[in-house]
Amino acid sequence: ATERTLSIIKPDAVAKNAIGEIIARFEKAGLKVVAAKMMHLSEEKAGGFYAEHKERPFFKDLVGFMTSGPVVVQVLEGEGAIAKNRELMGATNPKEAAPGTIRADFAETIDANAVHGSDSPESAEREISYFFGNDEICPR
Ligand code: CMP
Repeated sequence: ATERTLSIIKPDAVAKNAIGEIIARFEKAGLKVVAAKMMHLSEEKAGGFYAEHKERPFFKDLVGFMTSGPVVVQVLEGEGAIAKNRELMGATNPKEAAPGTIRADFAETIDANAVHGSDSPESAEREISYFFGNDEICPR
């Protein structure tokens, strides 16, 4: 089925000037960008986004990293978009990411891991509405 997923190009990948290369991978895989914006997240916005990780030992570092520079937040649309995006990204830890995936090619550490992608239809819905109003999404 056609799905939507939330993608974030994280501060490390923005700093590497890799926005275009990463979006090109989504487009070449048949995913369409139906919403996009660049933002510098506040601690509150980043912490709320990752609220499910609040009790994890890496939470503070994660929020620190995600607020360290601008990010590009996008909604990707396509057949099986959630799984397709996760395949393109590779494993969360870049050291375990399969060759040719975004994290294998652009990421260094588990925190600075280049991209985020929704992990289920439920989180996709929550994450998309966390960043975008309906009037900011452009069906195409
Ligand atoms: P992301 O998909 O954005 O979701 C949560 C992020 O926490 C994850 O990518 C990693 O960048 C970061 N993180 C840091 N340490 C861990 C860990 N031990 N397990 C999972 N995620 C971690």
